[in-house]
Parts: sequence; C-alpha cells; structure tokens
Amino acid sequence: MSSKITLSVIKADVGGYVGHSAMHEALLAEARTCLDAAKSRLLIDFHVTGCGDDLELIMTHDKGVDNSEIHGLAWKVFENCTAKARELKLYGAGQDLLADAFSGNVRGMGPGVAEMEFEERTAEPIVIFMADKTSAGAWNLPLYKMFADPFNTAGLIIAPTMHDGFRFEVHDVKGHKRIFFDCPEESYDLLVFIGASGRYVIKAVYAKDGEIAAVSSTERLALIAGKYVGKDDPVCVVRSQGKFPAVGEVLEPFTMPHIVEGWMRGSHYGPLLPVPFHHSGPTRFDGPPRVIAAGFQLANGSLVGPRDMFDDPAFDRVRERTNDLAEQLRRHGPFEPHRLPMEEMEYTTLPQVMDKLKERWEKLPG
Ligand code: F6R
Ligand code: MG
Ligand code: MG
Repeated sequence: MSSKITLSVIKADVGGYVGHSAMHEALLAEARTCLDAAKSRLLIDFHVTGCGDDLELIMTHDKGVDNSEIHGLAWKVFENCTAKARELKLYGAGQDLLADAFSGNVRGMGPGVAEMEFEERTAEPIVIFMADKTSAGAWNLPLYKMFADPFNTAGLIIAPTMHDGFRFEVHDVKGHKRIFFDCPEESYDLLVFIGASGRYVIKAVYAKDGEIAAVSSTERLALIAGKYVGKDDPVCVVRSQGKFPAVGEVLEPFTMPHIVEGWMRGSHYGPLLPVPFHHSGPTRFDGPPRVIAAGFQLANGSLVGPRDMFDDPAFDRVRERTNDLAEQLRRHGPFEPHRLPMEEMEYTTLPQVMDKLKERWEKLPG
C-alpha cells in the first residue's frame, strides 16, 4: 500500500432544482449516505457539496488516480442521485451520465474528474475551485496567473522555493494530444496555446521537481456527446503554501472577472463571478457563470474544512465589477461578442434552427 494520499474530485449534473439553477438538498443527502456507506471500505474521507446544479464529490483515499473502484463508487452515487432526482422530477435528471453502464473509468462518460496523488506534507492546505455555467478551459487564465505571473504571485520572485517556476501540462482536447511547457522559460510558447481555452486546456501544473501542484477537469461534454448536453462546469484542485503559491496568491486571479464561455444555453460569453457557497446557484439569465472556492487542510487524508474562501468582503468590489460587465454584455442580447462565435455555436442547438432556413438562401444576383 502506498503512503501517498489521492484526492479525487468527481462531479456531474444529475438533476437541477429549479431548472438548471441549483442542487436539491435530497441529492446532497443521498450522495452523503452512499459515500458514508462506502467509506470504511474505500475512502479515508469525503465531502459532498454542490455548485449550481452540479453535484461535487470530494474524496480522499489511497488507491491512486483513475482507480476503477473509486470511479465506480462515484458512478454509483450519480446513479442513485439520478434516481432520487427522477423521484422528485427535478430538471434534467441524469443529464451528465452519457453512458448506460459504468465500464471501469468515468472519464469520457460525462462526469468531470480532477485527481492528484501526493505525499501529504506536514501541513497540506488545498483549495478546490468548482464552477457552474462554464466550460473546461475556464481555469487557464487563473492557473497561468497563479503559477506563472509575478504580478499575481509575489512568491515567484520573493520565495526561493518557487523562484524556479512551474511546469504546465496542456491538453489539446480536440486533437487528443498533450504538451508540457516549463515556465518562466517557455511562458510565451505556453500562451500561444492556452489563450485559446476552448481547445487547449491546462490539465495540471507541477513544481520543477515533478511534484503535482494543481489539476483540473478537462472533460468537454459537447465533444464527448457530439452535441449540446449542458456545460462542463469544471473543477480545479490547487495545493498551496511553501513550495506552492500562498492561499492568497491562489485566490488573487479571481479578482479579475475574466470572460468565460457558458452562461445561458452554454452559448454566451460572460464574466466569472467568485461567490460564497450560499450564492453558488446561478439565476440571472442562468448565470452569470460562477465559481466557489473550498479550502481544506488535510490531516492524514482527512478533509479538515471546508472554509468558504470567497466569503470575504475583499471580493465585494470584484463582484460589483463582474455584475457591471455582465450587464454590459447582456445588453448585446443575441449579438456577438455576447453570443459565442458561429464556430463555437456548432455544439449548441443553433444549427438545428439554421438548418430549417437553409433552402431559403438565394444566390446573389450578378
Ligand atoms: C447552461 C444551462 C442552461 C440551459 C437552459 C436551457 O449550461 O444549463 O442555461 O441551457 O436553461 O435548458 P433546456 O434546454 O434544458 O430547457
Ligand atoms: Mg443542468
Ligand atoms: Mg451545471
């Protein structure tokens, strides 16, 4: 048995209350009951929460990443919660379960997955970001800022433990390829790709000695299903302090409400709103897209927490600015750049509407 701890965050939308806005308490209770029953057999600890209409399973164990028992457990929880959602006739019951039956790993089956295995330090502060109404790729900008931008992370300059920089693993989610970049040396090369966050997604960040620092869920539902089935609503786990950015450096990128894709019908750009847990349910125009941050200290795999990291008046101004930006974009209605560009609309329901009109197009005279 390995002395390492694995932290697995596996999430899915298995039914919304009301509409796609939030999570019903009965689903959270069902998930807790299921994980509690499996705890002595499989888990060291767990925490269940919701972000918008997404059910988030945070689990610690010693079985490593991509473990079929852990993934099977998560799938079972999602199935049971789907049954509960059907009973209550919640909205979109079982939405993200794209496969009929579990086959060893939830990757590619609809749920989002962020997992890391590591040796727990003397003190192990972790921040888990969970978003709703946006897609994988939403973490590109904040992860770049945390681990490669000295204007965000003072430790890159001041702390001898971080001065060497970090290594980024980037996935091309359309080409099914990956590439690694060392920063700061290759930061311009990194930005060539991660600036196009719909296709190139930061999967993980490592210290230069190879130790895992951050991991995100990169599953893109539309690419898996080949059509619009709701948004990815990704998660991201970040280790903090010491050789990693301080908690405040990890949170600082969210003081700029950067524009992400998602929001209403997964078809609009909007600013990412950092909110406390109790505001995680999007309402205005099914949004704006939002993010919560759950802080934990690990104690031999036990999850001590969570602390609601965005529940701080220091983020009030950001929230105001985000709402101003959201307002400005909303006034564009169906016009770009609020609505996604045509190539991005390929996976929404818009092509069905366009199809109906295609016969009516006439050649220009002359
Ligand atoms: C976005 C989202 C919602 C729905 C919208 C329409 O990720 O989940 O904005 O796209 O509420 O939902 P349906 O098509 O289920 O009526
Ligand atoms: Mg939903
Ligand atoms: Mg969602």
